[in-house]
Amino acid sequence: MKQKLLLLFGGASSEHEVSRMSAASVLKQLDKDKYELYKVGITKEGNWFLTDSPVSHIEDGSWQKDPENRRAILSPDTSDHGLLVLGTDDRFERIPIDAAFAVLHGKHGEDGTLQGLFDLAGIPYVGAGTTASAACMDKGITKMIVAGTGVRQADFYLTDRYAFASDPQGILKEAEEHFHGKYPLFVKPANAGSSVGISKAKNNKELFDAIRIAAEEDHKVLVEEAIVGREIEVAVLGNRHPRASLIGEILAAGEFYDYEAKYISQGSKTRILDDISQEKQEEIQQAALDVYRAMGCEGLARVDFFLDKEEAVVFNEINTLPGFTKISMYPKLWEASGIPYKDMLSMLIDLATDKME
Ligand SMILES: Nc1ncnc2c1ncn2[C@@H]1O[C@H](COP(=O)(O)OP(=O)(O)O)[C@@H](O)[C@H]1O
Ligand SMILES: [Mg+2]
Repeated sequence: MKQKLLLLFGGASSEHEVSRMSAASVLKQLDKDKYELYKVGITKEGNWFLTDSPVSHIEDGSWQKDPENRRAILSPDTSDHGLLVLGTDDRFERIPIDAAFAVLHGKHGEDGTLQGLFDLAGIPYVGAGTTASAACMDKGITKMIVAGTGVRQADFYLTDRYAFASDPQGILKEAEEHFHGKYPLFVKPANAGSSVGISKAKNNKELFDAIRIAAEEDHKVLVEEAIVGREIEVAVLGNRHPRASLIGEILAAGEFYDYEAKYISQGSKTRILDDISQEKQEEIQQAALDVYRAMGCEGLARVDFFLDKEEAVVFNEINTLPGFTKISMYPKLWEASGIPYKDMLSMLIDLATDKME
């Protein structure tokens, strides 16, 4: 019998569009013989609709105009175990669900909130649980957990919107002292994604502006020493016995891998890193697994590092729902490691329903 799979896309997040592109590729690749699909789109305003719109309409956003869309709610009640869909007669139809895959990035998708709802409903879902999702979303918390692993990371200073608003010069001074006056620094909101709100500050004035910008995205702000080196990424898959993929490299089009370089300029490229020693490759893979385990991840994550001039492996961040578009690193890394996209998706759904693997 086919598994009833709930696929969520869109979301009330700055990464709404990216999610639609990711969901479109997942939908193209999912094994239709295995799954009976229920697609729920979440608008930017946070409204939920069960939709039968074709993939191309999900990709371009026009699914929202489909007259057949019906309001749908994921019930937290375990006896519903699925969706409540509003009919024309104002009655709810109940659709039980076997497993869920929230192809949502960032806020209210990848940050533990939705995972909490799945937990309440008793529905198995792809990826990290509530705590790990929230911890990986918060770059400040991630830093603190990773500090206990022995994996290297950029030196950091944490501040917040309120401290900065009440004493901006004091915070600037404290941050500069922390890094002994060294620039450039990277400033980021602790909770965001797709490089939104991230800036590179080269002096005191830029640092001021950078903290102000980051504080608009999240109340918690992270200031980091700049790491000069290559940007590399590793895909991890599994629950108890996770495995790490080959290593990918980002060749950013801009000065750093900002939103423009990621999604707009098209000049950024990714490749499989093939010019490092076997030992170095294993060291990176091990670091990715160490971070994955320490963060308490399940299912999948993409773990990002820098490889500096001396080939030191420096952890940058971890994403519990990385991009899934056809050109995204996560599926690409598994393809290169011998697991086709379609099989990788089936494995993720199996991992959701069997937490032992
Ligand atoms: N400490 C750092 N040193 C050098 N570059 C950085 C640093 N932090 C971030 N960057 C650059 O900014 C990009 C986005 O930062 P990242 O922390 O990965 O946030 P996001 O979650 O938005 O992807 C990185 O891909 C990298 O190009
Ligand atoms: Mg990143």
